[in-house]
Amino acid sequence: MKIIAANFKMNGDKEFIDNWFQNFEADTENLVVVGLPAIYLESSIQNFNKSNFKIAAQNVSKFINPGAYTGQMSSAMLNDVGVEFCIVGHSEAREHLCEDNESVYEKYNCLKSFSITPIVCIGESLEIREANNHLDFISDQIEKFKTAEDKIIFAYEPIWAIGTGLVPTQEQIEEMSSHIKSHFSQQVTVLYGGSVNSKNSSEILNMNNIDGVLVGGASLNAEEFANIAQS
Ligand code: PGA
Repeated sequence: MKIIAANFKMNGDKEFIDNWFQNFEADTENLVVVGLPAIYLESSIQNFNKSNFKIAAQNVSKFINPGAYTGQMSSAMLNDVGVEFCIVGHSEAREHLCEDNESVYEKYNCLKSFSITPIVCIGESLEIREANNHLDFISDQIEKFKTAEDKIIFAYEPIWAIGTGLVPTQEQIEEMSSHIKSHFSQQVTVLYGGSVNSKNSSEILNMNNIDGVLVGGASLNAEEFANIAQS
C-alpha cells in the first residue's frame, strides 16, 4: 500500500470541493489523503472520511496549549473535528510563514500527542542542489527527528520541482530517499512531491524506496488525481 496525498494549498471553495468529491472515484488499495484548507476540514471529514480515504490539514500551530495565539489552530482543535493527518514544514510555509526546522519539529510533536499523523515536508532549493549540498541540507532538516521513535512520514519535495513541471531523475529521487532512510533505525516512509501527474506517477511510485506521492496542482482535478491514486 502506498500513500497518495493531495495538497489543495489555498485553492477551492465550498462548491469546488463538493464537486471534487463527487467526481473523485478511485478503485485502489492505496491510502488516499487529501489536504484541504482548514475551513473545509470538518464538513469534509463528516461527509467523506473512510478507512482508506482521509482528510488532512495543511498546517498546525507549534503551540500545544490554548492561549493568545491569534489566527492559529492547535492540534487539539484538529483532533476535535476528527483530523487524522496533517502536513507540516511545506516549503511554502517555510518561506511565507518563516517556519524553520525547530518549529516544524515542535509541530510534529504537538500532532503526535493528539495521535494525528504528521507528513513532514523537506526539500532543497535549486541553488543548494547545484552546489551539491543537497544531501547535507536534508540531513539538517531531519536531524531533530532522529530521536523520534515512531514511524515518520517524510515528503521529499525539492523546491525546484514544485509547480515547475521539472521532476528529478529516478537516480536523484532514489538517492535522496535512501539517504533519508539511512538516518533512522526504524521504518520511515518517504513520499515524493513536485510536479507529480498521472503521466509520471506510475514511474515514481515504482521507484525503490518511494512509498507514495504528494501532489499539488494535479490534485485539484479529481479525475487526474483518481488516475494518480490508481497508478
Ligand atoms: P505540485 O506541488 O504538485 O504542484 O508541484 C506539490 C506540493 O507543493 O506539495
